[in-house]
Amino acid sequence: MTHPIPQTMGQQFGRRSWAEPWKIKMVEPLRMISRAERDQAIAAAGYNTFLLRSDDVYIDLLTDSGTSAMSDRQWAGMMLGDEAYAGSRNFYHLEEAVREYYGYRYVVPTHQGRGAEHLISKALIKPGDTIPGNMYFTTTRLHQELAGGVFVDVIVDEAHDPANLHPFKGNVDLDKLERVIKRVGPEKIPYVSLAGTVNMAGGQPVSMANVRALRELCDRYGIRLYLDATRMVENAFFIQEREEGYADKSIAAILKEFCSYTDGAWMSAKKDHLVNIGGWLAVNHQDVFETASNLVVVYEGLHTYGGMAGRDMEALAIGITEAVQDDHIRSRIGQVRYLGELLADWDIPIVQPVGGHAIFVNAKRFYPHLPQDQFPAQTLAAELYLDSGIRAMERGIVSAGRDPETGDHRYPALELVRLTIPRRVYTQAHMDVTAEAVKAVYEAREQTRGLRMVYEPKYLRFFQARFEPIE
Ligand code: F0G
Repeated sequence: MTHPIPQTMGQQFGRRSWAEPWKIKMVEPLRMISRAERDQAIAAAGYNTFLLRSDDVYIDLLTDSGTSAMSDRQWAGMMLGDEAYAGSRNFYHLEEAVREYYGYRYVVPTHQGRGAEHLISKALIKPGDTIPGNMYFTTTRLHQELAGGVFVDVIVDEAHDPANLHPFKGNVDLDKLERVIKRVGPEKIPYVSLAGTVNMAGGQPVSMANVRALRELCDRYGIRLYLDATRMVENAFFIQEREEGYADKSIAAILKEFCSYTDGAWMSAKKDHLVNIGGWLAVNHQDVFETASNLVVVYEGLHTYGGMAGRDMEALAIGITEAVQDDHIRSRIGQVRYLGELLADWDIPIVQPVGGHAIFVNAKRFYPHLPQDQFPAQTLAAELYLDSGIRAMERGIVSAGRDPETGDHRYPALELVRLTIPRRVYTQAHMDVTAEAVKAVYEAREQTRGLRMVYEPKYLRFFQARFEPIE
């Protein structure tokens, strides 16, 4: 049983709004460069917003990764760094916080999420293995492939439809998963790769019922289940809001229950945990821990710092506690929804329901005259920057990359531009300005032409590819 999705936060909370549970103590000036300078800047960046200088950006919605504002307590924690090479006290604070809120037994620190993805992939995947998961994420899948595995998408079909209002579009389709298990054999599946929320689907959540059933299915075949917990606190909010029996449970309790159905998790602490750098891998099985904590000394750093300074680990430990506060997460998602409501009111095509960390604009519907190999989402991100200095990110054909077998572009159903909201950074007025800029670009859509790719790097091409306008 699920509750209907409230159309506005106002409907959910009566007349009470989601105002931020903090006030501003320090500010960082912003400036917008002129249109002529933006023309130059985006051309110099090869029409790729990843290649812009941040000084040339006005409102930066490229990502919510490492872009959070830390609290006064986290900054105070930075002064308490124990910069010992081994056994830093800050590591033990971090370990304690992960154990308390996520419930896993063993913790391995890493410099960021992909460091943890590297370790878990290398520890568990053998060449020829299959890793089923609820939609790919760029770095996650690449590490699985580099370890010799093949990723297979087993998310529910609704996830691939931007207009479908399913409340848990991040769910695993258990029939699809069972068919994969029967086709390749359970011994060829080192683990199921579950993400909560699902970034590439639009920040869509997984339900508690789904993870519970997934656990049972995995147990039936003796397969392990690992979680990408990067935005799992946001996922917990949607369970509290939409799933029967969870309205009165705290975010922290929901998070811990969800994690209890999995064997471990990897984490990009740069998202939910409100820090600018950091990550971890946490597992329940001792053998996996031993392998990972041996690999971490090769690739990241000693197993009590894993690429982070002591002060980073302290800020992270404090951030974990702040992240699971109900009022924090309500205002975080409230702000994302506020932007979504403005755009939806103007009939701008966005992924619905609005997810946890971003608004995803549907570039296929925005630019129906552009074929996918003229990069409609890449084009839209460039046009938005030109209009207003706002930086967004492509999440479509460029991000999907090429099929390693055939070498052809992958053509994902979702061709999206992500307006990603950093945590505790921008105000409601910045959301207004952003919505108005998207509207201006939408009004000029018929005159917009696409792009051609002129440089393509081998790995994760979206970060560094270059484009030119088609004349
Ligand atoms: N998993 C998910 C779901 C992510 O969104 C990311 C990063 C990672 C893993 C990798 O973590 O960046 O710390 O190495 N996502 C960023 C983004 C880059 O913009 O969505 P990382």
